[in-house]
Amino acid sequence: MNTDNMLNEVETPAVLLDETKMMGNLRAMQDLADRHGVALRPHIKTHKSLEIGRRQMGLGAPGVTVATVDEAQVFIEGGFESITVARPVISPPKWDRLLSAAKAQGTDVRVVTDSEEGIRAAGERAAAHGQTVGLFLKIDVGLHRCGLLPEDPRIGKLAGMIHDHAHLTFRGILSHAGHAYGSKSRAEAAGVAEAERRTMVAVRDALQSDGLPVPEVSVGATPAVLAAERFDGITEIRPGNYVFLDLLPVRVGVARLSDVALTVLATVISRNDRYFVTDAGSKTLTSDTGVHGMTGNQGFGLAYPASGFQQPDGEMIVDKVSEEHGMVARNGLDLAIGSKIRVVPVHSCPVANLARSYVVLTPDGPETWPVDAAGGSR
Ligand SMILES: Cc1ncc(COP(=O)(O)O)c(C=O)c1O
Repeated sequence: MNTDNMLNEVETPAVLLDETKMMGNLRAMQDLADRHGVALRPHIKTHKSLEIGRRQMGLGAPGVTVATVDEAQVFIEGGFESITVARPVISPPKWDRLLSAAKAQGTDVRVVTDSEEGIRAAGERAAAHGQTVGLFLKIDVGLHRCGLLPEDPRIGKLAGMIHDHAHLTFRGILSHAGHAYGSKSRAEAAGVAEAERRTMVAVRDALQSDGLPVPEVSVGATPAVLAAERFDGITEIRPGNYVFLDLLPVRVGVARLSDVALTVLATVISRNDRYFVTDAGSKTLTSDTGVHGMTGNQGFGLAYPASGFQQPDGEMIVDKVSEEHGMVARNGLDLAIGSKIRVVPVHSCPVANLARSYVVLTPDGPETWPVDAAGGSR
């Protein structure tokens, strides 16, 4: 079925997934991991879909990464056997929810931490549940969000605390170079990745020379991983965004616009002198114009007439959004009310999170896949 015919049947606003492009992105990342001898443990916060997670596992992933206990629960109950929670878990009720789900399914759970409080909470709750939990120490390689600075003298002490606890296992060190999104070129992103690699190897070596084995060195952010030239010393990568891509990695120069697999389909519901007004506003496209401090220059997305998708003379910017309306600057085009517009979002991860289902464009026609872990940041 051709794409125009498929799109005519779709009620808008809709989040479209081009299955062929998505599978191309999944295979390319798995090939990259295989080539460099590192495990690929994809971050599923991007897609929150059991079906896509299963495809990633089918290509060779040994497990997945999640941000929240909500996501962990959905994927544990979905049969995923090894899960890393890459945001510190502190409160006892959250630990109880995570450990109960993991116990019921026999899941290997690994969680990041960067504090004594976090380690104590993990140890207490793991002991209460009669389970053993793997912990990673999060290292701050420049994003300055969670993590211990590489020179922090507490690293050895905290790793030792984990190592010595009867219900905890020291899995290693983990970092996220999200500041790679601020890079202005592929070369700059490669520099961020190499700085991260050197930092992580130095932290690993310091721990090992103190007699603490570091089984895993885990890194991961799509632009850094795609730009990286060396992976020596790294055991695992955890990119998430690569499954769909969006304007952010395209802007950094590590992905092509034509590889973006997630788009939003909208209908022109009104028009005025300046704008085509569509039914995809911030509740569909989100209000994201960049991440980690980068500023946007493509508004809330790059739009095209749906029937001339990605033809350069059809490019329009989604200039403004209110909740249920998107204002697409006309750029000299003349689209009738009722026309369909297809938007490449600035940031696909929150777009997926707001959706309840994907309309998947397959060679055999459209399919609907649920966003199984949509919403919820608990
Ligand atoms: C800890 C951690 N690891 C990995 C990722 C994946 O990064 P990306 O989606 O840029 O590939 C994220 C994303 O926010 C993250 O927070």
